[in-house]
Amino acid sequence: MIDLRSDTVTLPTAAMREAIARAELGDDIYGEDPTINRLEQGAAAIFGREAAIFVPSGTMGNEIAIKVHTHHGQEVICEERAHIFNYEMAMLSAFSGCVARPIYGEDGVLTWAEVKKRIAPKIYYRAPTGLVSLENTHNMAGGTAYPPEIADEICDGVHNAGLPVHLDGARIFNAAVALGKPVAEITRKFDSVMFCLSKGLGAPVGSLLVASRGFIDRARACRKMLGGGMRQAGILAAAGLIALGKMPGRLADDHANARFLAEGLARVPGIKLDPGRVPTNIVVFDISGTGMTTAELTRRLAERNVLMNGINPEQMRLVTHMDVDRAACARALAAIQEICKSG
Ligand SMILES: Cc1ncc(COP(=O)(O)O)c(C=O)c1O
Repeated sequence: MIDLRSDTVTLPTAAMREAIARAELGDDIYGEDPTINRLEQGAAAIFGREAAIFVPSGTMGNEIAIKVHTHHGQEVICEERAHIFNYEMAMLSAFSGCVARPIYGEDGVLTWAEVKKRIAPKIYYRAPTGLVSLENTHNMAGGTAYPPEIADEICDGVHNAGLPVHLDGARIFNAAVALGKPVAEITRKFDSVMFCLSKGLGAPVGSLLVASRGFIDRARACRKMLGGGMRQAGILAAAGLIALGKMPGRLADDHANARFLAEGLARVPGIKLDPGRVPTNIVVFDISGTGMTTAELTRRLAERNVLMNGINPEQMRLVTHMDVDRAACARALAAIQEICKSG
């Protein structure tokens, strides 16, 4: 199987399995798991922050951050295809009692000019804005990396309006590689950053939330409310340390493979995409000109041992990762070319 459905499908490397087996452990609810402590301190250092907290999933990390930043009855501004709005089980209302104020951004990128217009005026009969949340890279918009000056300008504007900014940085290391800048630099103006170990970095489980010490203390209580307090979680952190330390250095290969696939797909009659707009490891492409729906293409690809998903009847999404090499990408491309030729 060539599995291009997501970069979450990777299996732990031999080194990760070995580290898991040898991990020094303790009870993390008591703060006594040395491997978790190393991972949290390492993450905080890499992002230039005071503290970090390990959480089982990116969703939990985002939702804890939203809870800590907001109060019930507030609005959260985000891009309309944002993960926090579409794929987190309405937790921003269920858990934090907020509503989303979604805005469309070209390639998933918002601008201060757009955000500014949607910050609620301070009038007693309007629900106040409590938070602005950005996503970098933007998953459903095709792995877009936020131009740092645009993200910085939004953060400055939002802060001047007296509000905080959260970053859903599930794939922030992909953004850093694409931009050629350290994660600490491209995230420095955000009040909190969530990033995932279990996506392009290849760990089996886990994400981190990084912020100030006070924020992380409050996040720790929220994690417990959600049942996310874990005991000998160093089992997971052992793989996470390898993900954080070793894996960012190989993400450029995934980006090159995504670009290779995008360039090949752009030459297939009926498929529409601009390979110049594939900066990282996610390729979203329109197949409406092939006469097939995404459900049909998905099924026919699966018959050829290639897995990828449709995000609606017209658009497919594929994601490259460490478990698909260039040869596998070439086979996946050949399968699409064959199906589209045979009609
Ligand atoms: C942008 C983004 N944020 C958050 C998440 C949530 O991560 P998890 O699946 O670990 O809950 C994902 C998962 O795909 C994502 O793509």
